[in-house]
Amino acid sequence: MLSNPVPAMRIDVITLFPEILRGPLDASILGRAQRGGQAEIVLHQLRDYATDKHRTVDEKPYGGGPGMLLKCEPIFAAVEDVQQKAPRPGRVILLSPTGAKFDQAKARELAALDRVVFLCGHYEGVDERVREHLVEDEISIGDFILTNGALAALVVIDAVVRLLPNVVGNEASTQSESFSAGRPGLEGPQYTRPEEFRGWRVPEILLSGHHGHIEQWNNEQSRRVTEKLRPDLVAAAVPAAVRRSESDGYPKASANPA
Ligand SMILES: C[S@@+](CC[C@H](N)C(=O)[O-])C[C@H]1O[C@@H](n2cnc3c(N)ncnc32)[C@H](O)[C@@H]1O
Repeated sequence: MLSNPVPAMRIDVITLFPEILRGPLDASILGRAQRGGQAEIVLHQLRDYATDKHRTVDEKPYGGGPGMLLKCEPIFAAVEDVQQKAPRPGRVILLSPTGAKFDQAKARELAALDRVVFLCGHYEGVDERVREHLVEDEISIGDFILTNGALAALVVIDAVVRLLPNVVGNEASTQSESFSAGRPGLEGPQYTRPEEFRGWRVPEILLSGHHGHIEQWNNEQSRRVTEKLRPDLVAAAVPAAVRRSESDGYPKASANPA
């Protein structure tokens, strides 16, 4: 491991399927972040915490209903063991389609923590007592149902780790990309060599070398793309701008006539 001036963020993942995570965690920027000492990611097999001879982790739900639920005992045992062994306790986060929807703001919030423990559900989910008495945070990666939480954990880990200091080569890129604090909307179009491909030319302004004009063009493109593809972001930005102007003491942009 290379020396890193900032202590590594420690991420524990409790799952029935560590093998789903292993390959992607070793590759590319996530792999480099671990080798470079910016992130320490430890996978734990939930089944190792079952105590009966069949290593049972699931049971039928009380009251009937389809499918199986993950039982309390192995989950509590796993989280308590993982918390105890690590140098400091981490926030326990359940991946669940009923959680708050994950976004870039949440990724930034998590990247500021020094430790998190992800708990991945499977089957029909987890016994409610896990949610009530163990879990501190619940994250959904969108309004759809995955077979289990490992892929969801991977998505969250990827978004968080790339925000850690010294992980992405050019940190300015994480500050100006879509959804970042420095950009109210989506990133606009970008081009690289060649200047012309099959008769399609790169916009002349980008070849002009005039930084002021290029920045203005980029901002216009960002606004155009956001209005076209994500009008909800534009609508959300307007009340925020009004709130800002109110707190600045400027006249209100749209005083309510009622
Ligand atoms: C098949 S799902 C359970 C769905 C649950 N019965 C329901 O209707 O809400 C099994 C597990 O996959 C994970 N999962 C599925 N969809 C997810 C999503 N959109 N975001 C985060 N985790 C998800 C959770 O860990 C969940 O416990």
